Amino acid sequence: MPNIPILKLTNQESIKNAAKNLSLGALISIPTETVYGLAADAENEDAIARIYAVKGRPSNHPIIVHFESLNYIDRWAKNIPNYALKLALEYWPGPMTLILERSHIAKDFITGGQNTIGVRVPAHTSTLALLREFHNLGGNGVAAPSANRFGSVSPTDAESVKSELGKYLDPEKDLIIDGGQCSVGIESTIIDCTDTFPSILRSGFITEEMIIRVTGVQVLTKEKSFIRAPGLLEHHYAPIAKVVLDGNVSIGDGFIALGHIKTPKGAIRLASPENLEDYAKILYAALRDGDKKKIAKIVVIPPSGAGLAIAIRDRLTRASG
Ligand code: TXA
Ligand code: MG
Repeated sequence: MPNIPILKLTNQESIKNAAKNLSLGALISIPTETVYGLAADAENEDAIARIYAVKGRPSNHPIIVHFESLNYIDRWAKNIPNYALKLALEYWPGPMTLILERSHIAKDFITGGQNTIGVRVPAHTSTLALLREFHNLGGNGVAAPSANRFGSVSPTDAESVKSELGKYLDPEKDLIIDGGQCSVGIESTIIDCTDTFPSILRSGFITEEMIIRVTGVQVLTKEKSFIRAPGLLEHHYAPIAKVVLDGNVSIGDGFIALGHIKTPKGAIRLASPENLEDYAKILYAALRDGDKKKIAKIVVIPPSGAGLAIAIRDRLTRASG
């Protein structure tokens, strides 16, 4: 079996070819600023079915639709509240997904049978170029979950996509686009915009303060949202190694903490981020590195405080869940 190709989109021809394959039903792993996605034409039911198969994901889980600019939002969503438009104007392209009332083209096979659709404009030059060409060919958007097997760590570079999904992809038509290492490193903030006020379903780089500043409205905390966002499962984003957050370190354990925290004796340092941005950016690669080194247990000291630290703690809690 030939290897799944990994390609840099360096010229117009490669972009056109990839867009054409996408419109013919291929699966293409796309780099974004958050994590790598596994993309397919969001209106092609067969291609979407392959995404679920390749990921090993339950079929009632909704998938985020990505497009090239805010101009395409009306194709996928309707009754968009004013605060959601303000957010999109300010933070797109960027690490933010808006959950909105769906339009007629957002079918059940994308929304998991729900009446809502998740939409996002990712901030990555190669992927924006690909999306532009895809729109030129008549496409309305690409559905893309993170390019990992269900429940495991999202990939933040092209090689990690290959080791996660390579053997499930079809080298004859599918493709992995190499866009370097993701700059944010954790998945987009998901904001429910189907109510009078926004609420955060998944924390990320776009924080509550950033939402309030732009919209001028309050952000609701929903104890239990009626919206199903299965990425919020308690055990998710997990490597093979056992992730432990309590700081009890034995010899041979992996260790991840901010740079100023010393490595405990006998532990194997996997990452020493200097600040929160750095922490988010290298966390998943560090967890994968632990698996590569066949480390059985990784001890992680979560960052304290607000802002991006909230999202990092959220992912760590799930990884250890
Ligand atoms: O940063 C990201 O969001 C990445 C990149 C590739 O864009 N994508 C990503 O997709 O993380 P995924 O499928 O791995 O996680 C998306 C989460 C899932 O938990 C899904 O259930 C939730 O978003 N979601 C998608 N559409 C939704 C909807 N209509 N209502 C509620 N939750 C939704
Ligand atoms: Mg995911």
